[in-house]
Amino acid sequence: MRGKLRRIRCFFLWLCVAALLAGCRELEKKEEKKSLRIGVSLYRGDDTFINNIRSELESCAKEFEQENGIKVTLDIQDAKGSQNTQNNQVERFISLGCDVMCINPVDRTAASAMIDKAMTAGIPVVFFNRQPVEEDMNRWDQLYYVGAVAKESAVLQGSIVVDQYRKDPDSLDRNGDGVVSYVLLEGESSHQDSLIRTEWSIQTLKDGGVPIEKITGGIANWERSQASALMEQWLGEYPEMIELVICNNDDMALGAIDAMERAEIDHIKLVGIDATTPGQEAVRSGKLLGTVSADKEQYAGAIFSIAAAKAQGDPLPSELSLENGKYYWSPQEILVNP
Ligand code: GAL
Repeated sequence: MRGKLRRIRCFFLWLCVAALLAGCRELEKKEEKKSLRIGVSLYRGDDTFINNIRSELESCAKEFEQENGIKVTLDIQDAKGSQNTQNNQVERFISLGCDVMCINPVDRTAASAMIDKAMTAGIPVVFFNRQPVEEDMNRWDQLYYVGAVAKESAVLQGSIVVDQYRKDPDSLDRNGDGVVSYVLLEGESSHQDSLIRTEWSIQTLKDGGVPIEKITGGIANWERSQASALMEQWLGEYPEMIELVICNNDDMALGAIDAMERAEIDHIKLVGIDATTPGQEAVRSGKLLGTVSADKEQYAGAIFSIAAAKAQGDPLPSELSLENGKYYWSPQEILVNP
């Protein structure tokens, strides 16, 4: 009988010690979460849209610190267009003990080397803006992607022109020949957004009944200066012919406007995508017919909240609706001069 009592006492004692140890471990865990380290690598720090996202991410981190009293170190690095440099940045993030990495891949088809490193180190990754191929995204359940649906951006962009044409056809068909003659400025050929934006923007014009005719087009890699050079050349080659410039992003539209200003031309209509800070300004001043805004607060907010949850080992916020548990699509809207 006494032996049985002793065994019961021992069992309860063991239970108490186990509960105490678990409590201590919990406390230790909470202690570790007093600070988060997030490694962020940008494909190019001089890209206007990416810079807008970067500023929003910094605001998110500040807000999170204030609300939760948890210090956030955002280690933001510029890969300057080199995948090699970005691979080294990922290695450095891992050696510094980052809790999570947010990566804007330089080469979206070459994400597997970075994924290998992250998986080996057990560090979750939130990719953004340049979408890794599906095969890579499916390699691990700790990989996420935040972006905007390219077809949606394009359909919205096309509808800006359709609305304008329905409202005032002569403002687009300036020479009254019954067709709107356009040139096209495209982003990087390897970017998932370029082809889809081009295809669906044009399709939306056709579906909306705008009679169009392509004069020419070219790749300006999202860049203002490259777009400006192309537009200057086209204004010389096709004098008085261009009525519309369809641009895969705002920076290229701004480049085309630069060339038009040099040539003292202001009647050609242009549309962009991104609603970057200078893009919004151009819409307000009437230089740009319209643009498409991917809500940058929500875009960066989604990147940050996935990263913060992962860094703390918490479940993802329930208000964040992810497609297939890993893709977050940022809402978009049209921005025109009222
Ligand atoms: C696009 C954006 C471009 C450029 C590019 C970089 O989504 O519209 O302006 O930032 O991403 O990947």
